[in-house]
Amino acid sequence: MKDITRRQFGKAAAVSAAIAGVSLPEFSFGQPPVESRRFPQGFVWGCATAAYQIEGAAKDDGRKPSVWDVFSHTPGKTHNGDTGDVADDSYHRYKEDIGLLKNLGVGAYRMSISWPRIFPDGTGKANPVGLDHYQRLVDELLANGITPYITLFHWDLPVALKGGWQSRDTALACAEYAGYVAHQLADRVHYFMTTNEFASFTDLGYGNGAFAPGLKPPAAKLNQVRHHGLLAHGLSVQAIRANAPAAQVGVAENPTVFAPVIEDERNIEAARRATRQENAPFLTAVLEGKYPTSYLEREGANAPQVEPGDMKAIGSPLDFVGLNVYAPYYVRADGSPRGYAIVPRQPSYPHMASAWIAVGPECLYWAVRNVCDVWHPGAIYITENGCSADDMMTAAGRIEDTDRVMYLRNYLTHLHRAVEEGYPVKGYFLWSLLNNFEWADGYSKRFGIHYVDFKTEKRTPKLSAEWYREAIARNAVV
Ligand code: FCB
Repeated sequence: MKDITRRQFGKAAAVSAAIAGVSLPEFSFGQPPVESRRFPQGFVWGCATAAYQIEGAAKDDGRKPSVWDVFSHTPGKTHNGDTGDVADDSYHRYKEDIGLLKNLGVGAYRMSISWPRIFPDGTGKANPVGLDHYQRLVDELLANGITPYITLFHWDLPVALKGGWQSRDTALACAEYAGYVAHQLADRVHYFMTTNEFASFTDLGYGNGAFAPGLKPPAAKLNQVRHHGLLAHGLSVQAIRANAPAAQVGVAENPTVFAPVIEDERNIEAARRATRQENAPFLTAVLEGKYPTSYLEREGANAPQVEPGDMKAIGSPLDFVGLNVYAPYYVRADGSPRGYAIVPRQPSYPHMASAWIAVGPECLYWAVRNVCDVWHPGAIYITENGCSADDMMTAAGRIEDTDRVMYLRNYLTHLHRAVEEGYPVKGYFLWSLLNNFEWADGYSKRFGIHYVDFKTEKRTPKLSAEWYREAIARNAVV
């Protein structure tokens, strides 16, 4: 017999040989896979959530309302009038949720602390009972071998703070809160992020009003709101360092990510330029400690009022830059003075269940590469990546979210490229551990790798949870 083995020709050959009545040498299927997309040892795999999106328990233990409580209770502001009053009830079920993390095999959990639980009035007297919850949560994580990565401000601003982000005092209050929490947790928490996504709580909250508090002040006021957001970050970095000197401090930011239309030197340079220019009011200011002149000129009389010392605080050195990455924009070099043009998306461009999640796996690579090539940070984490999908339950009670698996597999393949090329990517946090309150979309958009029945709060792993567990176990894209 010719040397036909199943190893060479696989199952098809074996099947046709069997049909032809030829016997093949014994060989077992299911060989150990060849890992061509393995991540370095020590790469951090995690999941991410945020307090208001999962906790519920809106009035427990002295918590007072945040702008999201008020906004979501205002008719017409969220899908179906949904609120975070109960959400995943993770405030009470945190042990169960840590069990889910444990099953996945993650080494890290990115979570946020609810400011209005710690300082129910935003500032002033701390509420120790509110903090106790997080002490227990951190203990439980550590007991399960999971490292907490804590975001201080993920949008749930105490409503008692007059003027919200329009007031400079809010930035000072944020730093006071950040310093207090860092001090209380410093012995066990070593990773802090100050704020989550500047544009989301400034531009959406005070620009188009789609997010809390739903205001639409004129341009100059919006720029001042943005500046106060940055200042809160900068002062919080300083406060965390003063109270938790051993901690690694960073920010979780969602810069607009530019992928070159064609990967050649001219377009790659265009992507770099666009990264710096288009993110001028946020990441550029944070990583350079100044607003680019072109931004200030463009804004003219509407440019933010900056007090002495502000930019130094805003540019406080960071230990890592956290990037929330979901979708790309494409750019080309166009020979114009600024050097790039953003290419509009065609209507047929594919997206996930949320229209804003345009599918472009290479953006995970370009997010890292552009940020590193422009600013050279020492460490990068992907602090969020994931997608919404429809959660169709099969007759067998399973959620076979092959679309999410496809999304994750492809995005991670491109992240792997960045790692291979030597960019300092330390870890990846999948958004999200479980379906939750997706802000203005309420419960209509489902980002979890665990399904949640919001009537019973029962959690069920989806196919993507199985997939992620396998990827983590093999430390590779699978
Ligand atoms: C990000 C937010 C996060 C979640 C995901 C889907 O912009 O930071 O809270 O809503 O989008």
